[in-house]
Amino acid sequence: MFDSAVYRRRRAALVASMQQAGQCGIMIFAGNDDLPSQGSASSVFRFRQDSAWVYFFGVDRPLWAAVVDIDSGEEKLYADDVDIDDIVWMGPQVPVSEMAAGAGIAATAPAAKWYEDVRKAIEQGRRVHFLPTMRDGNIQRLVRATGYPYDAVRTTGSGAGAHASEEMIKAVVALRLIKEDCEIEELDAVGELGFQMHEIARNAIAPGVYEDEISAKMEYFAKLRGWGLSFETILSQHGETLHNCARHTPIAADRLVVVDAGVESFSHYASDHTRTYPATGKFTPRQRDIVQIVADCNALAFSLTRPGITYREVHIATVRLMLERLKDLGLVHGDIDEMQAAGVGGLFMPHGLGHNMGLDVHDMEEYGENYVGYDPDQQRAKQLGLGNLRMARVLRPGHVVTDEPGIYFIPALIGQFKRDGIGRDFVDYAKLESYYDFGGVRIEDDVLVTPDGARLLGKRRLPASPDEVEAAMKR
Ligand code: GLY
Ligand code: MN
Repeated sequence: MFDSAVYRRRRAALVASMQQAGQCGIMIFAGNDDLPSQGSASSVFRFRQDSAWVYFFGVDRPLWAAVVDIDSGEEKLYADDVDIDDIVWMGPQVPVSEMAAGAGIAATAPAAKWYEDVRKAIEQGRRVHFLPTMRDGNIQRLVRATGYPYDAVRTTGSGAGAHASEEMIKAVVALRLIKEDCEIEELDAVGELGFQMHEIARNAIAPGVYEDEISAKMEYFAKLRGWGLSFETILSQHGETLHNCARHTPIAADRLVVVDAGVESFSHYASDHTRTYPATGKFTPRQRDIVQIVADCNALAFSLTRPGITYREVHIATVRLMLERLKDLGLVHGDIDEMQAAGVGGLFMPHGLGHNMGLDVHDMEEYGENYVGYDPDQQRAKQLGLGNLRMARVLRPGHVVTDEPGIYFIPALIGQFKRDGIGRDFVDYAKLESYYDFGGVRIEDDVLVTPDGARLLGKRRLPASPDEVEAAMKR
């Protein structure tokens, strides 16, 4: 946990922001509960606290709740102290009052009182603001507290009504998107752990080695040096499948291996890096061409990243370079602007350039991707690729984004484009079909926007270009 002053300051900023937006009433928070993994209350998944809870209160325990009064500024935490039965099973526990003090809050009450207090506020006609959540247990607790129907709690809206609060989402997103110095320190530290975890992968890649043998070594490191993985590792010789978490095959000598993985620190900050390796340590000429393009796209995006530019513009410029270079290879032809308008970029990169990152690897997306990644005056595109961009906003110092271009040869998608006649005038489908067995390439760094540009998080940068990768894999 950070110093209690950090949490007090964040909550005060949230209250001030809600007041400035003309809001009144109370904000209620539900920390996460334990998730059962099997049919027994004592068989649960490892506890992961809700990220908004981590941000505003820090207390890393299940089943806590809070009320923050926008009108009076009063704050109260709700949790139960353990009894002797719990101590027998769990060992001695820090008292609720002591943990609450760590969050900078003196007022505490038993967990059951939260439901009473929320219900009382609703009966008094006060507006109750809460964030949307993906965790069913939290939805159920919000249903119980507010008396609103399940579907209403899952819905987001503005103004009074039975729904999650758009005004609160906007205020929380505005705060959490701009990382504080203490957060940047955590992100730098976990970025270095991400570097070390990827080194483990790179050193283990060889023909015949099972993909999961490598990912298991990575996970061991992540659990030893941090809280664990920041998301399920993507380690695959079928990198053309974007989120390929199937890892059960031995690596073949002619394949590229995409490794997309991150560490979550004990303080719950994420890293998220991707590199693409040749199984043998040496790229074929065809692999080298594509990996070089992606490395150049990643470098271009980084060089453009600075305050004032939109990440949408950076995405578009990056895809433009990608198409120019694919044109040099003869896979596409014609005018680049026309190609982009026709959506040809999405055939090769059917995802956006990057996303926000922080306490969540895809930061705050459970509140709605557009609230997090789009400024109010930005419209999300419909096109494959650009429309998948999760972070389009005007960049500001303190934003943390990923820079993760990729090129993928997805037989099903190529077939679909061809059948639908998309890019008919630009794509050499016959040539493209010779890449059906190629796989995919992605290169990803974690980037902090600074007052005068950008820098990578972590101390060291993983080898990315074909020359750098081959040098690092020399054994
Ligand atoms: N690195 C996984 C993702 O960005 O979705
Ligand atoms: Mn990512």
